[in-house]
Amino acid sequence: MSKIPSLKTVEWKDNKVVMIDQTKLPNELVFVEYDDYNQVADAIRNLVVRGAPAIGISGAFGLALAALQSNASTKENLLEDLEKAKKILFETRPTAVNLAWGLERIMKTANSEDSVEQIRKLVINEAKKMADQDIEINKTMGKIGSELFDNNDTIMTHCNAGALATVAYGTALGVIRATKESGKKIKVIATETRPVQQGSRLTAFELKYDGIDVSLIPDTAVGYTMANNLVNKVIVGADRILRTGHVFNKIGTYQVATMAKQHKIPFYVAAPLSTFDMKSNPEDVIIEMRKGSEVTGIGDKKTAPDGIGVINPAFDMTPPELITGIITEKGVVKPSYEESIKKLFEAN
Ligand code: MRU
Repeated sequence: MSKIPSLKTVEWKDNKVVMIDQTKLPNELVFVEYDDYNQVADAIRNLVVRGAPAIGISGAFGLALAALQSNASTKENLLEDLEKAKKILFETRPTAVNLAWGLERIMKTANSEDSVEQIRKLVINEAKKMADQDIEINKTMGKIGSELFDNNDTIMTHCNAGALATVAYGTALGVIRATKESGKKIKVIATETRPVQQGSRLTAFELKYDGIDVSLIPDTAVGYTMANNLVNKVIVGADRILRTGHVFNKIGTYQVATMAKQHKIPFYVAAPLSTFDMKSNPEDVIIEMRKGSEVTGIGDKKTAPDGIGVINPAFDMTPPELITGIITEKGVVKPSYEESIKKLFEAN
C-alpha cells in the first residue's frame, strides 16, 4: 500500500463526515462518507471508527450532521433534535469518556446562540476546531512524553492508541512517533490485542507505514518478552482515567501492567485531559460487553464450537499502583495520582 502523507481518521468535508473504515484495515484502505448522524452512530457501534479520542470527535461531527438534518426553525426545536441525536450517539459505546465530552462540548456551543442558522454554523465550526485541536494536543503530548524514553528503548504497546484512534498522530503512538522524531533509535513490540486485533491490524499497520521498527507478538507472549528482557518500557492509551488514577483501557491492559510491575518495567499511559473523568468512582464505570462471535472466530472464520458461553469485555481497569506515570498535553502526572491529578486540573 502506498504512503498517504496526511491520513486523517475522521474529517468534516463538504458537510459530510468522512472516515477511514477501520474494519477493513490492513487489507484495504477505504474511506466512508456519512450525511446522517444515525450512520455515524452505527459506525461508532461497529468499530468503523474506534479509539477514545476518535469517537469523541466523531460524536461531535455526528451532532453537527444532526444540526444540518434538523428542519427546526426555532432554537428550542433545534435543541430538542440535537438532544435526541446526542442520546443515540451517546448510547453507542459506554466506556470511553471522550464520547460524552465531545457531545457535551457541542451541546454547550449550541446553547450559547439564539439564531438557528447561527447555531448550525457554530456547531460545525466547533466540531472542526475540536478535530484540529486533537492533532495539536497529540503532538504536544508526544513531545512531553518523548522525554521519558531513551535511545535504544524497546517499547511495548497494547491495542491501538495511534493516529487511527485519534484524528491523527495518536496518543501512545504519538509519544512513540515523537521519540523517533527526536532522533532516538527505538523499537516497538505490539500485542495482537485479541479479539478484534487492533494491535496487529492497526498498530502494526500504522508503525510500518511510518517506518518504525515493529514486531508483533501474541497477547500470550507478554510475560515471555518481559522475562527475557526484550522490553524495557510500556506505553498505552486510555479510554477513561479517574481522579484516583484508575485507568480504563482495552481488555488486557491490566495483564500487561501487572506483568510490567512483576518485571520492574516502567508502565506509562498517554491520554489528553478529555479522557479524564473527575466525577466517577471505579464501580460506576460501565465496561462494554461485546458480542461472543468476536471471540469464537477470527474475522469470518469460526475457531470455537457452537453452543458455548463467551465472556467478552472490551475494557479492563488498571489500578494506579501499577502505573509509573500518566502523560498528558499539560505534563506528566506521577503518584500519588489523587493529589497530582487534582493539581493538574486546578492549574488547567
Ligand atoms: O475498542 P476500541 O478499539 O475503541 O478501544 C480502544 C482502546 O482501548 C485504545 O487503547 C484507547 O481508546 C486509547 S486510544 C488513544
